Amino acid sequence: MVSVTTLSSRRVADTLDKLHHEAKIADQAHIEEMMALMESPGADAAQVVETLLAQERADNQATYRRYANNFLAVSPAYGRFLYAMARASGATRIVEFGTSMGISAIYLAAAIRDNGGGILIGTELEPGKVSRARTNLEAAGLADLVDIREGDALETLRGVVGTIDLLHLDGAFSLYLPVLKLVEPRLKTGATILGENAFEPEYLGYVRDPANGYLSQPLPLDEGRGNEFTLRAA
Ligand SMILES: C[S@@+](CC[C@H](N)C(=O)[O-])C[C@H]1O[C@@H](n2cnc3c(N)ncnc32)[C@H](O)[C@@H]1O
Repeated sequence: MVSVTTLSSRRVADTLDKLHHEAKIADQAHIEEMMALMESPGADAAQVVETLLAQERADNQATYRRYANNFLAVSPAYGRFLYAMARASGATRIVEFGTSMGISAIYLAAAIRDNGGGILIGTELEPGKVSRARTNLEAAGLADLVDIREGDALETLRGVVGTIDLLHLDGAFSLYLPVLKLVEPRLKTGATILGENAFEPEYLGYVRDPANGYLSQPLPLDEGRGNEFTLRAA
């Protein structure tokens, strides 16, 4: 059968199936740990988020080194949403904070291919993840559309030139606001910003204030994961 989109092509679909399966196994213990934390007596979600944010703020790199072998990836439903948003907006220049093993990057790069080509600039702290993401994008046949920059996003995204059509924030959630402000001059009017685990009050306060030129609201997708949709409105 002829595939209608890059996302539904055998090569991309098989690669994503395999990676989502690997992610489920690799992240099971981490997910159970998070659920136990949320369900522990007296705990509330805000308190748990505050604890995670405090860990990140104390040492972002050490926090994520502990997850060097975890995917921490978007769900298949959210991945399809990323693809759809990138297609709907005709995005050809996308920036992603937090590439991990490249699952979300595959959805976004598939959209870029179907939009006629362009570039996804990804960034990832962990060298092992960068190399696995490159291998996975190669397996999906999308490596030619992706530039994964190794290191701290606050450094690697400093040199981004040209306009950005879509920004995917999925790295350390305490850094969403600094990363947004870093690339803000590059966002085109009408750019989409998708924040996964957008829990930090400072970030939400900023994008939800129309005076800052954004229109923003929570996404009813993967409830509880703090997904926020933001439009660069002006
Ligand atoms: C939630 S995971 C990303 C998952 C990925 N978007 C996916 O769906 O496949 C977050 C990633 O951000 C990376 N990260 C954390 N802080 C970072 C920083 N300051 N700069 C670049 N990457 C960072 C972590 O190492 C981790 O792999």
